[in-house]
Amino acid sequence: MIIAVLNQKGGVGKTTLSVNLAAALALSGQRSLLIDADPQGSALDWQASRKVENLFPVLGLAKPTLHKDIPDLADHYDYVIIDGPPRVNELARSALMASDKVVIPVQPSPYDVWAADEIIKLIQEVAIYKDGLRSVFVINRKIVNTAIGRDVVDALKAYPFPVARAIVHQRVAFAESAAAGLSVLEFEPKGSAAKEIKSLVSELLE
Ligand SMILES: Nc1ncnc2c1ncn2[C@@H]1O[C@H](COP(=O)(O)OP(=O)(O)O)[C@@H](O)[C@H]1O
Ligand SMILES: [Mg+2]
Repeated sequence: MIIAVLNQKGGVGKTTLSVNLAAALALSGQRSLLIDADPQGSALDWQASRKVENLFPVLGLAKPTLHKDIPDLADHYDYVIIDGPPRVNELARSALMASDKVVIPVQPSPYDVWAADEIIKLIQEVAIYKDGLRSVFVINRKIVNTAIGRDVVDALKAYPFPVARAIVHQRVAFAESAAAGLSVLEFEPKGSAAKEIKSLVSELLE
């Protein structure tokens, strides 16, 4: 299965979710590959800062030929995760064409949901040619013990994609683990961040 993590807005958690999804899959015994399709190469930086053995390979491939390159690569893996580019461009289109599933991280603010408008339009365009393409919003960086505002729920409702039941909260473990090139599952295996990532993975694989 090929899963793209896409949203042109920076800082929404594409890289954070990508590395942790790939790690959760790898730790559960799946052969996973992470493709860094962001020219900034943050997932590559993450891997480079690791001091322990890699859980999965990270391949820098920020090229609009992803849809042609990925099928051959995917033959060797159970899961390919694509950490998407910060633009709505040919690269994003190519990532979508290569994918079975799209994860759209959004922060729980109506501005963030509205900002996803452009990528949603592109997903809908590509979906016309790809019957099986499934997209899901994932709420990231929700503050613990706060409710998701009516405004956010309404903004999300305006789109034809479901919202994952699994919510990822704002947790220091995400930033601290990243600094050490670790996933939250390695950093704090029994912590809340690890639990949230595991729930998200199970839901994505349903
Ligand atoms: N759930 C979270 N809790 C705490 N910090 C987070 C969370 N998600 C992302 N971050 C932090 O926010 C910043 C941006 O996240 P990142 O994954 O790099 O976003 P993107 O790849 O979409 O630009 C990073 O510093 C990251 O550590
Ligand atoms: Mg990133």
